[in-house]
Amino acid sequence: MSCSPAADNASASFVQSQAAITHHAAVSSRYFLLRLQCEAIARRAQPGQFVMLACAPDNGGASEPLLPRPLAILDARGAELELLYFVSGRGTQVLRRTAEGARSGSTDTRLRIIGPLGRGFTPIPDVDAHVALGGGSGVAPLVFFFRRRADGNAWHLILGARTADQIPCTEAVAVPGHLRIATDDGSAGSRGTAVDALQALLNGDLKGRRVGIYAAGPEPMMRGAAQIARTLSFPARVSLEQRMACGVGVCRACVVDGTGPHPKTGLKRRAVCQDGPVFDINELAGW
Ligand SMILES: Cc1cc2nc3c(=O)[nH]c(=O)nc-3n(C[C@H](O)[C@H](O)[C@H](O)COP(=O)(O)OP(=O)(O)OC[C@H]3O[C@@H](n4cnc5c(N)ncnc54)[C@H](O)[C@@H]3O)c2cc1C
Ligand code: FES
Repeated sequence: MSCSPAADNASASFVQSQAAITHHAAVSSRYFLLRLQCEAIARRAQPGQFVMLACAPDNGGASEPLLPRPLAILDARGAELELLYFVSGRGTQVLRRTAEGARSGSTDTRLRIIGPLGRGFTPIPDVDAHVALGGGSGVAPLVFFFRRRADGNAWHLILGARTADQIPCTEAVAVPGHLRIATDDGSAGSRGTAVDALQALLNGDLKGRRVGIYAAGPEPMMRGAAQIARTLSFPARVSLEQRMACGVGVCRACVVDGTGPHPKTGLKRRAVCQDGPVFDINELAGW
């Protein structure tokens, strides 16, 4: 079996496993799609959740780099889990090399994986329309969210990138609802940022409607979306990215300040890996 739970933590409902690589391909000049066989995680996965994935197979009990990397879930079908990633440093460079060298489904290239982790996206209630902004590492969680939850014309996903060739291919990001592209240079979709496209939508097709806003990806984009939400008194949720070591609430590497006491600990601090990564902006200090 390609994915064998080593420890099934029922209370936290995540699984620690080994997952075989079944597919790896470039889907734009920037992104790679990685498919893993891991039924125990695929069956539990919810939009906005992530996995902690080792970048190389265990070599005598450890892999190099030692720490796994957090990656959001792009999709989960049957026993398979899909991730969409780009190379940003040493870990993701090693992951790319591992995946390119892997024979499909090979037990030699099974990667340590923990997931599904965190609190993901759910639809904002009592709004007329939903608009989500994704860029960089925020594309995957929002595409998964739309695939599972979008149910008609009131759902709008805006994907932002610098240039057209960075946008993942249509198949990788196909979603129900409306998909809009914004590029800095205007080489695909509208010219400008995803935040500009949100503003245009609110001034145009969605004028006068109460809109739920979601954002995942680069912090300036999420802050721009949050700022618009605050100005219009619209509800908004963002998916935070912090550097993570454990991914399961133990090391405290990922904590941020909340606005009020945590319902369980009574403290202001929130662990992004466990309490998030998705937060209502009203839960977060400084947003
Ligand atoms: C919940 C979550 C979900 C994520 N989902 C995805 C995804 O779907 N696809 C994807 O490509 N990436 C995703 N990321 C980001 C990914 O984890 C980092 O790119 C990766 O860990 C970088 O590791 P590295 O060893 O390649 O680079 P490093 O050498 O560790 O870092 C390279 C650069 O990336 C920055 N960086 C590293 N980790 C993070 C982080 N967690 N957040 C922000 N910046 C970081 C560093 O400051 C540095 O500038 C996600 C991160 C989190 C926290
Ligand atoms: S990464 Fe360890 S507590 Fe969040």
